[in-house]
Amino acid sequence: MPDMPKHTISPDLFILNRKNLSGLLPQKSMAIFRAAEKMPRNGDQFYPFRQQSDFFYLSGIDYENAFLILFPDCPITALKEVLFIEPYNAVKATWEGHILSNQEAIEISGITTIRRADQLHTVLRELMHYADTVYLNTNEYIKFQSEVEDTHQRFAKELKEKYPLHTFLRAAPLLESLRVIKSEEELLLLRQACEITKKAFERTLSFVRAGKYEYEVQAEIDHEFTINRANGHGYAPIIGSGINSCVLHYTSNDCQLEAGDLLLFDFGAEYANYTADMSRTIPVNGTFTPRQRDCYEAVLRVLKKAIPLYVPGNTIDKINQAVWEMMEQQMILLGLFTAEDVEKQHPDSPYYQKYLMHGVAHHIGLDVHDVGLKHQPLKAGMVLTCEPGIYIREERIGIRLENDILVTESDPIDLMADIPIEADEIEQIMSRN
Ligand code: GLY
Ligand code: MN
Ligand code: MN
Repeated sequence: MPDMPKHTISPDLFILNRKNLSGLLPQKSMAIFRAAEKMPRNGDQFYPFRQQSDFFYLSGIDYENAFLILFPDCPITALKEVLFIEPYNAVKATWEGHILSNQEAIEISGITTIRRADQLHTVLRELMHYADTVYLNTNEYIKFQSEVEDTHQRFAKELKEKYPLHTFLRAAPLLESLRVIKSEEELLLLRQACEITKKAFERTLSFVRAGKYEYEVQAEIDHEFTINRANGHGYAPIIGSGINSCVLHYTSNDCQLEAGDLLLFDFGAEYANYTADMSRTIPVNGTFTPRQRDCYEAVLRVLKKAIPLYVPGNTIDKINQAVWEMMEQQMILLGLFTAEDVEKQHPDSPYYQKYLMHGVAHHIGLDVHDVGLKHQPLKAGMVLTCEPGIYIREERIGIRLENDILVTESDPIDLMADIPIEADEIEQIMSRN
């Protein structure tokens, strides 16, 4: 093991997650999960490895070439839970260093039956004999589309061809129902991701000034992430100044900061595979113009009014609607259109959509846009973003404020309540530069 592990998660988390999933499996059924594969980049290079989130959730194993089988009523007790890991390979060990040992796999996952990945099909041959139904996993994220067939799709095809008379079912809805509620241990990891994100934002407040480049600001964030043992960013960071603040998914981060402009940040540290998601907007030269401040205060007011909506029974759909309506009122006050315009507008193309064209809440967790549905009633233990914004291109004003909110049985808890957000506070901190 490395001298100083990046993070240590108790195997109890993964034991509990497997127990919960096993409780959802009908009789004579097993679930098979496989690790992510290393994604090819170019030449002899691969992209940095990122574990498939469900596989991590159930095993804690952060390595490729691994499989997990859960078969709660398997007649052979030792095979109710089996973890398959990459066999030791001396050449790979020489070039790449550490290779997961059986003992480490047991300590990380809490699974006691460890087999070599190249034994998977031999073991499966026997287990298939006792099972009628097999649950398999694919990426079912609603908005996701990719031309590239992934390892999970290939694996499902392969098994269905090998065992055509078994019933194959989707594991994704089961995982979704579990992952959407965060346990205490997961909340600690999310809080740590928020804490590192806070440190990085505070670092930028004493760095930003006119003449710097957006990528230099990003380098400050990267530095703070690395020294705090984050994996890196949970998604491509947005560091957009001036007109770039109005580009919702701006990620080139290569423009020079100009005095008088705003700078919109949207970034989140990924810690132990759990990611924060934060947005802040600051004035490049440390002082908001009166117009920028009016727009900023409008978004901040709506953020504060929206957070109390994160209570059990409410839904993302309803929160979106409520926040859009609040922002519509603020836009009237900002003179972007009038109340009479709103009365006459076509319901399919309301005026506010010109200035706010996104939803304002999504679940976070192992993924930045984590599992969880928009019409599903919120429950205690869910963590979602609250991210109202306003984008007025003709004025080079793009503002988004985004905090991560924990739903509880009583009042919601803002996991980012201690990250500077008041306009005065931001100006005061920046005036120390
Ligand atoms: N950072 C992506 C989002 O806010 O949803
Ligand atoms: Mn977000
Ligand atoms: Mn965000």
